[in-house]
Amino acid sequence: MKITLSEKKLSQIKADYELIFIVDKNLNNEFIKDQNEFSFYDYKGSGVLSLNEQKRVYVGIKDLSLSSLRDGVASGLRAISAFKISSVKMASYFRDDADKMSFLALSEGAILGLYSYQKYKSEKKEQNIKELIISTQSYTKQKPKNKKALLGLEYGTIIAQATNTARDMVNETPQNYTPKRMAKDAMDLSEQIPSIKCEILDEKELQKQKMGALLAVGQASPNPPRLIHLSYKGASNALKIVIVGKGVTYDTGGLSLKPSDYMLTMKADKSGAIAALNAIRAAALLKLPFEIHAVLGAVENAIGSKAYKPDDVLISHSKLSIEIKNTDAEGRLVLADALSWAQENIKPDLIIDIATLTGACVVGLGEYTSGILGNNYDLQSEFYKLSKASGEFFSILEFNEHLRELLKSDIADISNAANTRYGGSLTAGLFLDKFIKDEYKDRWLHLDIAGPAYVNKAWGVNPSGASGAGVRALVHYFLGLDNLIQDGKDIVISPLKQKIAKKSPNKKAIK
Ligand code: BES
Ligand code: ZN
Ligand code: ZN
Repeated sequence: MKITLSEKKLSQIKADYELIFIVDKNLNNEFIKDQNEFSFYDYKGSGVLSLNEQKRVYVGIKDLSLSSLRDGVASGLRAISAFKISSVKMASYFRDDADKMSFLALSEGAILGLYSYQKYKSEKKEQNIKELIISTQSYTKQKPKNKKALLGLEYGTIIAQATNTARDMVNETPQNYTPKRMAKDAMDLSEQIPSIKCEILDEKELQKQKMGALLAVGQASPNPPRLIHLSYKGASNALKIVIVGKGVTYDTGGLSLKPSDYMLTMKADKSGAIAALNAIRAAALLKLPFEIHAVLGAVENAIGSKAYKPDDVLISHSKLSIEIKNTDAEGRLVLADALSWAQENIKPDLIIDIATLTGACVVGLGEYTSGILGNNYDLQSEFYKLSKASGEFFSILEFNEHLRELLKSDIADISNAANTRYGGSLTAGLFLDKFIKDEYKDRWLHLDIAGPAYVNKAWGVNPSGASGAGVRALVHYFLGLDNLIQDGKDIVISPLKQKIAKKSPNKKAIK
């Protein structure tokens, strides 16, 4: 799908179809030519109306916000995607202050909206629409600044393609998408993009490194686990960020077996790791000026005679012991070891883990929203605000000390499941917190994407199946941090090096 900008007036652009937005039910603007048809179809400017004879599709949008533009272009193109047309034209739609971001949102919407996963269909529906031409003639009559608009289209294309790659990987079936396959995808990525390096720890290395929690989760599976470390170094290393991803390639629940209905779709339990992998892909293609690492815990939670059991006590990489109360609470075990490894080996300024961690998050926030957990409310808010431009939904969840009691174990340092279902996302987050070292406590965010990672019924820019949740949010967060730094504004986490350097003279002064 190619998205181009044209200086020509809309009427002079040759294309097979035209897409027109109706903003806030305003039916009187220069692009609207089919008032008679509107009254025939009783169309009042909300939803989608495709007029096949006129070769025009109308899409009602609430306003010119990024989300409306993104979702609008996605639903418009989806409505005509089965037709034998190869090009679509539309006007520019943007708010005065947001031309770059608006073009970014339009290209994201087009590429994300037309995605479909067809690998296993004998008869594949071809994607006919190959080109979207956006005229600089605009709804608000203001001309977009070409450079900014083109940059927006380029950024949006990179971010959306990385999201679609994430969707392809998550949609791939569990018999094919094993931990080894994830390691191969990571290796391939580092071969495609020279600024990305990749290191793989196989099961023998994981044993040497005493990753007792992660290894236990994978021990019943014929597909051995991998720890995958990707790193990207941008032109400046102003900030060193690590994303730790849960990559459970299939979650049967283990011996605490999931009921069939709940097991279905658990190929998507690798979504956190896949989001991290593709966020780093986009960051490298966008040449972001940070050092970004991704640590992926790739493992299959299977059943069998070798399976780890409720009542087992595991010794984690951090040496803390864990009493297993439920083998279906496996993601936190994988993350515990991956988080410890990342803190020890990478020493980042900021750690973000991302995971389809709890069903409780879906119950609490719904299928469209992810949770932001952590110990630093300012950092949670910063992520909330800066990731907003992505169109992904987030909600901040706060810990409290009473919940921590629920993870106490009689025989080990902590148990992997609380003794109540209430507050399940928070207790899962508090379990992870146990593996965060003191110096990282307020430099850590945990994102629970269990709700939006897999889509049962299409919504927004998402067809059913994997959504690629987390890719856009992470990349927009990084872009937002970069903007703040460029503008000389403060960000919540300062680089650790600087913080330490700032602290030491004070100490001397006090002495
Ligand atoms: N992978 C699941 C969480 C999940 C549920 C993701 C639904 C997406 C949709 C996770 O490993 C799990 O099973 N968690 C348990 C924890 C419980 C046993 C403490 C849960 O949420 O029920
Ligand atoms: Zn589970
Ligand atoms: Zn899981």
